[in-house]
Amino acid sequence: MPRGAAVEMQHISKRFGTVQANDDVGMAVNRGEIVALLGENGSGKSTLVNMLAGIYVPDAGSIYLDGERRFFKSPHDAITAGIGMVHQHFKLIPVMNAWENISLGEKKSDTQKGFALSSPFLEKRRIVEKITRLEQRFGLGTQQNKKIYDMSVSEKQTVEILKVLYRGAQVLVLDEPTAVLTPQETVQLFAMMRNMKEAGCAIIIITHKLPEVMDISDRVTVLRKGKAVGTVHTKDTNPRELTELMVGASISLEIRREEPVPQEAPMLEVRSLTLHNAEGVKVLDTVSFEVSGGEILGVAGIAGSGQKELCEIIAGLRRADAGSVRFLGENLLGLTPRTIKKKGISMSFIPEDRLGMGLVGGMSITDNILLKSYDLPQGPLIDRGQGRVAAENIVQRYAISTPSVQHIVKKLSGGNIQKVLLGREIERRPRLLITAYPVRGLDIGASYSIYDMLNEQKRQGVAVLFIGEDLDVLRELCDRIMVIHNGAVMDIVDPCACSKEDLGLLMLGHKPETL
Ligand SMILES: Nc1ncnc2c1ncn2[C@@H]1O[C@H](COP(=O)(O)OP(=O)(O)O)[C@@H](O)[C@H]1O
Ligand SMILES: [Mg+2]
Repeated sequence: MPRGAAVEMQHISKRFGTVQANDDVGMAVNRGEIVALLGENGSGKSTLVNMLAGIYVPDAGSIYLDGERRFFKSPHDAITAGIGMVHQHFKLIPVMNAWENISLGEKKSDTQKGFALSSPFLEKRRIVEKITRLEQRFGLGTQQNKKIYDMSVSEKQTVEILKVLYRGAQVLVLDEPTAVLTPQETVQLFAMMRNMKEAGCAIIIITHKLPEVMDISDRVTVLRKGKAVGTVHTKDTNPRELTELMVGASISLEIRREEPVPQEAPMLEVRSLTLHNAEGVKVLDTVSFEVSGGEILGVAGIAGSGQKELCEIIAGLRRADAGSVRFLGENLLGLTPRTIKKKGISMSFIPEDRLGMGLVGGMSITDNILLKSYDLPQGPLIDRGQGRVAAENIVQRYAISTPSVQHIVKKLSGGNIQKVLLGREIERRPRLLITAYPVRGLDIGASYSIYDMLNEQKRQGVAVLFIGEDLDVLRELCDRIMVIHNGAVMDIVDPCACSKEDLGLLMLGHKPETL
């Protein structure tokens, strides 16, 4: 067996438009080794492994396989070189069974050599025997005649793994394989991975879950904002150190925090809110919290932990399976979005909202502001004069830089679009303002003016629910932070008494001893 790293990626950079997804990243994995690739959402993990799999071509840097430099121009190149990628979203054909999927794409000319009279029967027997040998070697099990559409997620994943092994993969890359598995299935997957490792495969696994990293990996490479910030031996590290690497040191942003005004009763009360997705998996798991007027409650969590669904239920855009939502003591569940808005709840959900349902890019600022003013006359009787005044107010108040209020929204910069969106919601004088990722994609200056807008609302007694992603911002802006993990509330913490690392640990489902 060759010595040294089976795969080594050096100085890899990749940019998508303005996003530097990978910036001078290096990582390596040896035969008989499992390396975990860890990082927050958007830190560039998938991008990196997709270059290894020939899906993207790096802008700069090099990939070595057993010491030899390789250039993968397509997934086919990577597969031929022995790299097998198991994606988060499976690429199997549902109407075919396991063995057909596994052998799909195998070149007939190669396989039929030596078969003087190759019949479909012999061909199937040859394939099934080959798969069975792989199963025995690596300790995997599938029902080869079962159709994909009859399979559980975990069975499909095993088929995907067999498929890459069948093509001779020596290097296995698994992108968040456990995200879709139950804990028991994860145990099985890890057992298979250990067998593959024993058999000399080199394995890269992407996961968010620190206990899994500690359990399965030999080394860990951590990415933060597109950069590799460290590689450590798993036996020499711990979840806290890994979290620190992931989230980085705290930096002071000096966001002005207003003292909350104590209130008698909470404005919004959410109790035991529960929601399942189509597969029956809990997206929200007995979520309970309250927000008072004059405070900003932050919500921290890895993307996809249930933030979006929570907002949608409160806004009446989605039904909950169980639980209650009360606003000023009144039940909100079952009301239409429009009725809920009229009660004084405003929501802006960026990025979906920015130029999606929230704003119409091709319309002027004025028209966009009229669009959501349900209290104004609708249809041909729309009072443009009133809309114009409101638009001019917003432009002036929030220093939106635009030639005029008649300017088409999509021609504004991102920061200005977000200010129009938030300004419009604020103009409606909500009592509860829900805002998700309002500073995403904005530069520092534009971000601070958004924080100012939120603080101003708080001062006026509005209850603000702020779904954020930057932990430094959450810690400096919010009065309390609710941390969610897999749809469940891990804790609601005082930002002044909770370090950035503690927040990171909670987001990853750990309960830090210090809290
Ligand atoms: N095909 C693409 N086009 C544009 N931007 C992309 C593309 N793929 C990834 N990105 C961006 O690159 C960054 C890193 O993404 P990704 O590698 O998917 O992160 P991770 O897997 O760590 O969550 C993100 O900001 C993401 O939005
Ligand atoms: Mg990813």
